Amino acid sequence: MRSVYVLNGPNLSRLGTREPDVYGAETLADLTALCRDTGRELGLSVEVRQTDDEAEMIAWLHEAADGRVPVVLNPAAFTHYSYALRDAIAQRTAPLIEVHISNPAAREEFRHTSVVAAVATGTIAGFGLRSYVLALQAVAEIAQ
Ligand code: DQA
Repeated sequence: MRSVYVLNGPNLSRLGTREPDVYGAETLADLTALCRDTGRELGLSVEVRQTDDEAEMIAWLHEAADGRVPVVLNPAAFTHYSYALRDAIAQRTAPLIEVHISNPAAREEFRHTSVVAAVATGTIAGFGLRSYVLALQAVAEIAQ
């Protein structure tokens, strides 16, 4: 079965209590179950991880690059300023889909810039947790 990493950046462990008006009432555990169930339907073995640590996220991206593992990545706030994350993503050897729960383009000015979008395969944003489902569908269609 094709392996896929779903990697989540800072503060996403707080889903459910964090600004529910923006991110909804579902928790990281709910998101994990949704991604695993979606993966099962699509024939993908999905591993969901979350970190608040930039170095750990970069290590996971290196691991994905070395293993040719496709990635669904919500970089969270790293999206807007982390050139280190951008440079790690640029080393990818399989599709990498940038996802966001909210639509950053419709929010504060600083969220309008993604420093990682140019090195991702594509971006899906604004569909709540469905953004991850759509991203996994994209991976299932395009990953070799
Ligand atoms: C987010 C959007 C980012 O701007 C924010 O910093 C997050 C979550 C999203 O999923 O909507 O932490 O990536």
